[in-house]
Amino acid sequence: MTDISLLEGLATTRAIRRYTDDRIPPEDLQKILWSATRAPSGSNRQPFRFVVLQDGPNAREAKRLIGEAAQAMWSKKVVTDQYEQGSGTDHNSPKAKMARTMQHYVDNLHCCPVIILPCLVRYRAPNSMEGGSIYPAVQNLMLAARATGYGGVITGFHHAVEKELRPLLKIPEEVFIACTVTMGKPKGRHGPVRRKPMGELVFEESWDLTPSWAVDPEGTRFTSGGPPG
Ligand SMILES: Cc1cc2nc3c(=O)[nH]c(=O)nc-3n(C[C@H](O)[C@H](O)[C@H](O)COP(=O)(O)O)c2cc1C
Repeated sequence: MTDISLLEGLATTRAIRRYTDDRIPPEDLQKILWSATRAPSGSNRQPFRFVVLQDGPNAREAKRLIGEAAQAMWSKKVVTDQYEQGSGTDHNSPKAKMARTMQHYVDNLHCCPVIILPCLVRYRAPNSMEGGSIYPAVQNLMLAARATGYGGVITGFHHAVEKELRPLLKIPEEVFIACTVTMGKPKGRHGPVRRKPMGELVFEESWDLTPSWAVDPEGTRFTSGGPPG
């Protein structure tokens, strides 16, 4: 366990895309998944489920499928988000560094220590609130990983291979696979997340009225939204 407060943990839970080869021991996995299962859900129905993929034969095959899907997704994104244009041609630019991180990430996804598929057991037709009964659990997973010295990324890499994953992992058709979370021991260090200033994101009384108290604490790091320009 790392000795950090809840608030510090949530301000420093960033997407971690480089992992050491260390496995996550069962006692740490237990803490992380236990924390995920403590999440809130509508009427406390607890429709969340988590399929953990480590080293078993199904896990290896699922990781291979997801890894290939991730590579294909990233290859497309390089073009659509113009990662090799503009500042992307400068080896030292944030854009070029991000592209290298992503390439390394997708190329090594198949041997990532743990992949978790957070799922939602649907008990009624999909509606606009249903994500609210699974994504808080996903964020609990990320925060608990941070607290136990691990890091991860929430991704959508499973989408393209859902048809293969479902029979392999016996995931029923009515179950929504909410995301793919990769997890392991970070190669680098955790650091503060970067977001827009809170004054741009928080309103009081009326849309666009920024409250006087919406002031970022000292040391807050900022970024604009979207892929690097
Ligand atoms: C709904 C959602 C989908 C995401 N999908 C991907 C993805 O497919 N691939 C990826 O590498 N990161 C993905 N991410 C990670 C985000 O890119 C990352 O959280 C964001 O850029 C902010 O960076 P930070 O978490 O390091 O602060 C996703 C995050 C969320 C919340």
